[in-house]
Amino acid sequence: EREKTLAMIKPDGLSGNYTDGIKKVILESGFRILRERVVQLDENGAATFYAEHSSRSFFSSLIKYMTSGPALAMVLEKENAIADWRTLIGPTDARKAKITHPHSIRAMCGLDSEKNCIHGSDSPQSAQREMSFFFKEMSSVHLLCQQ
Ligand code: CMP
Repeated sequence: EREKTLAMIKPDGLSGNYTDGIKKVILESGFRILRERVVQLDENGAATFYAEHSSRSFFSSLIKYMTSGPALAMVLEKENAIADWRTLIGPTDARKAKITHPHSIRAMCGLDSEKNCIHGSDSPQSAQREMSFFFKEMSSVHLLCQQ
């Protein structure tokens, strides 16, 4: 089944000039880039996007990181896109990724467990919520109206 997922090149990935390399991997892995948008998250936006992590000790640091500069949000489409994209980006901790998944995107451009350069939705529910967050026209209300 063709699926869509939300990918985001985080501020460190975008400022580190990894965008072209990441897009090359995306396309070579059979994903289509359906939408893309440069976004500057403010504190409110970042806290909303990462609401499920609000009680974690790293939350305030995560918000600071994610608001530190522009990010690139993308909607990717492919068969089994959600799971395959998570596999392609690799484990959360980029230091671990460099050892266990040396060909993953986080191994290529991430730094540690926070600055891991790239995001991927972890479930169909997250994918829907995150795609609507950045691309209002993809909210389910709008999609229902289009049918
Ligand atoms: P991601 O898994 O895409 O979404 C949650 C983010 O929180 C994660 O990427 C990291 O950027 C950050 N994060 C997760 N775990 C930690 C941690 N232990 N310390 C700092 N930041 C973290």
